[in-house]
Parts: sequence; structure tokens; C-alpha cells
Amino acid sequence: MDRRTFLNWVGVGLLANYLPITLAACSSKSSTTKAATSGFRTVGTMKQLEQDGQILNEQLPQAPVLVVQDSTNPDKLVAINPVCTHRDCAVEWKKQRNVFLCTCHDSEFDTTGQVLSPPAKIPLVTYAVKTEGDRILVGNV
Ligand code: FES
Repeated sequence: MDRRTFLNWVGVGLLANYLPITLAACSSKSSTTKAATSGFRTVGTMKQLEQDGQILNEQLPQAPVLVVQDSTNPDKLVAINPVCTHRDCAVEWKKQRNVFLCTCHDSEFDTTGQVLSPPAKIPLVTYAVKTEGDRILVGNV
């Protein structure tokens, strides 16, 4: 094996080893949606959610969390960071329309956090959410 062939062989091997790690690191930094890779925290109860129509928990260390029931499927819970991605106003849950509305400049977001109406261009941060008995738990907050 000559020197050039050896260096090409080593280069391909290094690329194959480190490319997946590099891509994973880059993709997690650019994502606005936080996956449930770490622990879950209790943010409220189903009883509280059914009474109030939403749970806003601002006591969490990372960010506030707003939990609602999807109007088209009440079994599906939705957890978002309610800070609008346009200029940081708080979004409101509009149950009848099944959207989050920011009244500062009228941006709307669907239950997956995606922008339905500008001026916001960036989706809301969403969180994994689950129930255990009556408790509602949100991941990675
Ligand atoms: S701050 Fe929400 S639309 Fe401008």
C-alpha cells in the first residue's frame, strides 16, 4: 500500500466514524423542539386542567410551560413554552380555534407549535407530555 492510498483509507475511516456524531451535535443545536430525553417534571393535574382549561406553570427552572388539551382530540395533551418567538410576548390558548394566539402582533401557532400566521417565523418550543394517574408530567423542562 502506498502512502497516498493509506492516507485516503485513514481519511475515509475517520469521516465514517465522526460524521454521524458531528451531524447529531449540529442538529440538536438547531432544533427548537425539545425532545423528551431527560427527566419529566410534574406541572399539574388532570383535574386542574379540566377545571381551568389550561395549566400555566412558571415555576420550572428552564422556562414556563403551558399545557392544554387539543380541541380536536382531548386525549392529546400539548405542552409548549408560551413565549412568542417573534418578540417574547405570552401566547394565549384559544380552545375554540385550537390555536395559540399572540395578541401583541397576532401571530398564530398550531398545537405542534408551527407558525400559522406571521409575523412570527419560528415555531414555539414544544415539550413531551404524559400523564401518570392524575398527574401531568412534562419532559426536559
Ligand atoms: S410578539 Fe408575538 S407576534 Fe409579535
